[in-house]
Amino acid sequence: MYQLTDKEFRDLREFIYEYAGINLTDQKRALVVGRLQKVLTREGFKNFAQYYEYIKKDKTGKAVEELINRISTNHTFFFREKSHFEYLHSAVLPELTTRLAASGQKDFRLWCAAAATGEEPYTLAMVLREFFGSQYNQWQAGMLATDISTQALQTAIRGVYPDERMTHTPVKLRNKYFQKIGQDKWAVKDALKKDVLYRRFNLMSERWPFRGRFHVVFCRNVMIYFDQVTRNRLAQMFYQFMQPGGYFFIGHSETLGRENCPFEYVMPAVYKKVA
Ligand SMILES: C[S@@+](CC[C@H](N)C(=O)[O-])C[C@H]1O[C@@H](n2cnc3c(N)ncnc32)[C@H](O)[C@@H]1O
Repeated sequence: MYQLTDKEFRDLREFIYEYAGINLTDQKRALVVGRLQKVLTREGFKNFAQYYEYIKKDKTGKAVEELINRISTNHTFFFREKSHFEYLHSAVLPELTTRLAASGQKDFRLWCAAAATGEEPYTLAMVLREFFGSQYNQWQAGMLATDISTQALQTAIRGVYPDERMTHTPVKLRNKYFQKIGQDKWAVKDALKKDVLYRRFNLMSERWPFRGRFHVVFCRNVMIYFDQVTRNRLAQMFYQFMQPGGYFFIGHSETLGRENCPFEYVMPAVYKKVA
């Protein structure tokens, strides 16, 4: 078992904060040791100081990628915080699509900004399809799903989930959008898979490369890992990349600071960019 000295923890913590915004408190020390052990053993490092040097020297980006894959927490599930999806279906989509259709537009853009292993974007894709019904093909209802973790994204792109991860998915939707494989796995059907475009994106990037603006953004249960300064900065960035009248969803345990918050508060964890 490797020991993590105060200095080693400080160095790694600062590096991870600078790179990914993830704010590792002292309580996360054991987690850091636990999640990085294997890499140190595999690479034959004597201690975390050697590992840190390796991270800093690596020009390929692979070492940092692996560090973030191991440190990030990708916990998620289908229909997590279900009321958001109900509100999206019953209020947000009718309002936004009526407005768009009235101005002759059929381009609806949604961004799932911490997609993890895909359960959230596929939930959103099901909600969109259920909402549009037979009109779906007349709309360009594109969804971008991003995450910093390449490992989580690989799972998302594969779109295969064991039985126990499907428990929150209504049976009707499960049978419609998934195909059973083997005894205990479910694969997302191709049509739904194609609704989602997965890309790696670090929310800490200085430049956000999106050309169009989004009507709806889900950025849930990731800001809990960031500090208030970072959350405030992100809220400003999301605001810039949203359409006027667009809706911004965060996790129920998260809040946006009231001061300087560019969005209008709608209800817990739902905000609006006022038109
Ligand atoms: C707990 S999961 C949340 C998943 C989903 N949004 C939900 O609510 O169920 C947090 C995700 O945020 C991602 N993440 C952490 N830091 C990030 C960053 N700087 N940029 C983009 N994604 C990040 C992690 O990789 C992880 O997949």
